[in-house]
Amino acid sequence: MFAHDLLAGKVIVVTGGGTGLGRSMALRFAELGARVAVLGRRPEPLAEVVQAIAAGGGDALAINADVRDAARVNAAVEEVLAHFGAIHVLVNNAAGNFLALTETLSPNAFNAVVGIVLNGTFHCTSAVGKHMIARGTGGCILNIVATYAWTGAAYVVPSVCAKAGVLAMTRALAVEWGRYRIRLNAIAPGPFPTEGAWSRLMLPGMDEEGRRRNPTGRFGDPTELANLAAYLVSDAAGYINGECVTIDGGEWLMGQSFNALTLLPPEQFQAMVAALRPPKPSA
Ligand code: COA
Repeated sequence: MFAHDLLAGKVIVVTGGGTGLGRSMALRFAELGARVAVLGRRPEPLAEVVQAIAAGGGDALAINADVRDAARVNAAVEEVLAHFGAIHVLVNNAAGNFLALTETLSPNAFNAVVGIVLNGTFHCTSAVGKHMIARGTGGCILNIVATYAWTGAAYVVPSVCAKAGVLAMTRALAVEWGRYRIRLNAIAPGPFPTEGAWSRLMLPGMDEEGRRRNPTGRFGDPTELANLAAYLVSDAAGYINGECVTIDGGEWLMGQSFNALTLLPPEQFQAMVAALRPPKPSA
C-alpha cells in the first residue's frame, strides 16, 4: 500500500522494539527504507529484530536501556546519534501493564507501570525532542496509548492513568513544539494479540468474548497497526499533528447505549423490538 521507499532517509527509534507491536513497527519501518534503532531492556529480542532487519537488507541498531532511567535514556540517544547521525522519528511504544484489584496495589506497583509508560515516554520525548530542536529540521513523535486513555478501565488503573497522561502530553507538545516543526501524534490500539499483552491481560474465556464484543468479530493484526504507524510518521502525514488515531475495529464504541444489542441475533432483536411497539389502533 506504500511506495517501497516511503521512509527512506529517516532514522527511527522504537522503544520496546524487541517484541510485540514495537517489533512489528520496527520491521515495517525498515521494509519501507528507514534505519531503525530498537530500544529495550532485554538484549536477546532486540538482537533478533536487528538480525531480521539485516537479513532483509536493512540497517538497524539495538540499544539496551530501561526507559524509566532518564540518564540511561540520554546516553542511549547519544549512542543512536553517534551511530546514525540524527533521529527523525521517535515511537514511544514501551509499556508495562498487569491486571489487579486497585485496592491491592502497592505504591511500587503503581510506580512500576507509570514509571515505564508515562515517565518513560517523557524521558525519551525530552531527550529526542532536545536533539530535534537543536538540529532545527523538525521531526515526528508517535505515542502508543490505548482506547481506555479516555474511558478509563477497571483493573488496569496504573496503565489508565499513565496512558491518559501520555495522550495529554501528545496534545500539549503538538502545540508547544509546532514552532520547531515537530509533530506529535498518538495511536490508540484496541486488542492486538501479542505475547506481552496476552500473557498479562487475557484471562481464560476472555479471548472468545473479546472477539464477540468487537464489531469486526476479530482482533487486530500487528501489521495493520504497523502500517498506520508508518503512515503517521511519514511525510505524507505532514499536516496531522496532535491527533490520536484509534485502531480497534470499533471496539470501544460498544459500551455506548444500545450497541450491546448487536450481540443478539437480528431475529431476536426484531422480536424484542416488535413486542415493545404499541398495537395499532383499530379503525
Ligand atoms: N499484580 C500486582 N502487583 C504487581 C504485579 C501484579 N501482577 N506485578 C508486579 N507487581 C508489583 C510488584 O509486587 C512490585 O511491588 P512491591 O515492591 O510493592 O511488591 C512492583 O509491582 C514492581 O514489580 P517488579 O516485578 O519488581 O517490577 P519490574 O520493574 O520488574 O516489572 C512490570 C514491571 C510489573 C510492569 C512488568 O509487568 C513488566 O516488566 N512489564 C513489561 C511488559 C509488559 O507489561 N507488556 C504488556 C504491555 S500491554
